[in-house]
Amino acid sequence: MTGPQVRDYIRTIPDFPREGVMFRDVTTLFADPRGFGLTIDQLVNPYAGHRIDKVVGLEARGFILGGAVAHRLSAGFVPVRKQGKLPGAVIREAYKLEYGEAVMEIHDDALRAGEQVLIVDDLLATGGTAGAGITLCRRLGTQVVGCAFVIDLPDLGGRARIEAMDMQVHTLCA
Ligand code: PRP
Ligand code: HPA
Repeated sequence: MTGPQVRDYIRTIPDFPREGVMFRDVTTLFADPRGFGLTIDQLVNPYAGHRIDKVVGLEARGFILGGAVAHRLSAGFVPVRKQGKLPGAVIREAYKLEYGEAVMEIHDDALRAGEQVLIVDDLLATGGTAGAGITLCRRLGTQVVGCAFVIDLPDLGGRARIEAMDMQVHTLCA
């Protein structure tokens, strides 16, 4: 008896946000108590028993996952947000999008040098967002222990890009 797996709760919506994109929608996964529980169990699994001081969640779906993962690992939660959303002093990191550039920010006092950090998000596509998150955490002097995602879109090269930063990548499904 295995029952539905994480991937079975995720729906794919064609042509969102634009024609030709098959959008992986995790709202159906989050809304299901068993699906959400399974997801948090599997995200936490490799890190149980390891020292994680802070879980860093990437805006926006990484907040939902990261909060639950932080609680399970008895860690604090820290948000990495899109430009202009955090009220205090920040450091920022720009990264390339298909068209143009995006900027992620973290409060400059949110992490202490020497802390062990786990980065969490729902989906790894090009790896631009997670790469910026890793760089921000490293600039604050922390050790990023790993990056955990629900979904890997392997054709977009994110895993290779993040592993090239000498970082372990943990994903639950493709
Ligand atoms: C999505 C997803 C990741 C990121 C992955 O977020 O939740 O954070 O894109 O893409 P990448 O690997 O190519 O960087 P999005 O930018 O759509 O933001 P949102 O969660 O605020 O909607
Ligand atoms: N779903 C959610 N976020 C995304 C996707 C997707 O399919 N592709 C790039 N970011």
